[in-house]
Amino acid sequence: MDNKTVYLNGQYLPLTEAKVSVLDRGFLFGDGIYEVIPAYSGKLFHFEDHMERLENSLSSIRLVNPHERAQWLEILTPLLDAGRDQSVYLQITRGVSDKRDHAFPEKVTPTVFAMCSDIVPLANLESGVKAISIDDSRWELCNVKATTLLANILLRQQAVEKGCAEAVLVKDGYVTEGAASNIFAVIDGILITPPQGTEILPGITRNVILDIARQNSIPYSEEIISLDALQTASEIWLTSSTREIVPVVQLDNEPIANGKPGPIWEAMNQLFQAYKRSQ
Ligand code: PDD
Repeated sequence: MDNKTVYLNGQYLPLTEAKVSVLDRGFLFGDGIYEVIPAYSGKLFHFEDHMERLENSLSSIRLVNPHERAQWLEILTPLLDAGRDQSVYLQITRGVSDKRDHAFPEKVTPTVFAMCSDIVPLANLESGVKAISIDDSRWELCNVKATTLLANILLRQQAVEKGCAEAVLVKDGYVTEGAASNIFAVIDGILITPPQGTEILPGITRNVILDIARQNSIPYSEEIISLDALQTASEIWLTSSTREIVPVVQLDNEPIANGKPGPIWEAMNQLFQAYKRSQ
């Protein structure tokens, strides 16, 4: 194990020395939220947007933000390496209580943990990936970046066991997002992604892509996509902070268009790469 430095409750420690109580509510209940923030050459990407989502996640689970944005920046900066592209994982749980009880304990200090990992581009990005569609079995607050990820994990694992990179989740016949990504489709020449709401995570990469589309006159729309419509798409992409923009070339064993990443993905990926380096 790479014994890198991590942050835990006010201290910077070697990873192997960072320990949390078994009575931490994150461990017992998954009672916590998290963020994943990319950092290119040591600079956090869209930090303010990630902080805004963190604040929304915290207030959704009724947890007081333990730090101001400026303090978060101070905490995370020492973990970054200017010579690498990394992602910061930041987790806040409700903390350690003296007994296990579902209801919130009265006085408890949140546990704050952060670590950095290198961003490793997906090996087969240029040739695209395969995905499966599967029923979205998650809860009703998918806009909250909760550490309680059992449904997402089980869905992603089903995809992996079928040789696929991601599970495309479907609720009542409509596509929501991937198990750990947002989804875009190009249908009749228009870039479409499902609208924000409680059924999807408001992805930062998603929003950056919409801004890039707007600035470059790429026609786009935020609207619901039926699974039937997705099957006729000329392009499908999955987006996240760690994988960026991944073209899907096969869905449920059927090729998407000619089975190769499409021209709008090529263009958007180039624009995105240039944009992230300009930040
Ligand atoms: N996941 N939807 C879900 C369910 C996700 O878990 C993620 C990202 C996204 C994309 O959001 P963003 O563009 O802000 O990364 C959408 C992260 C990377 C994770 O859980 O590790």
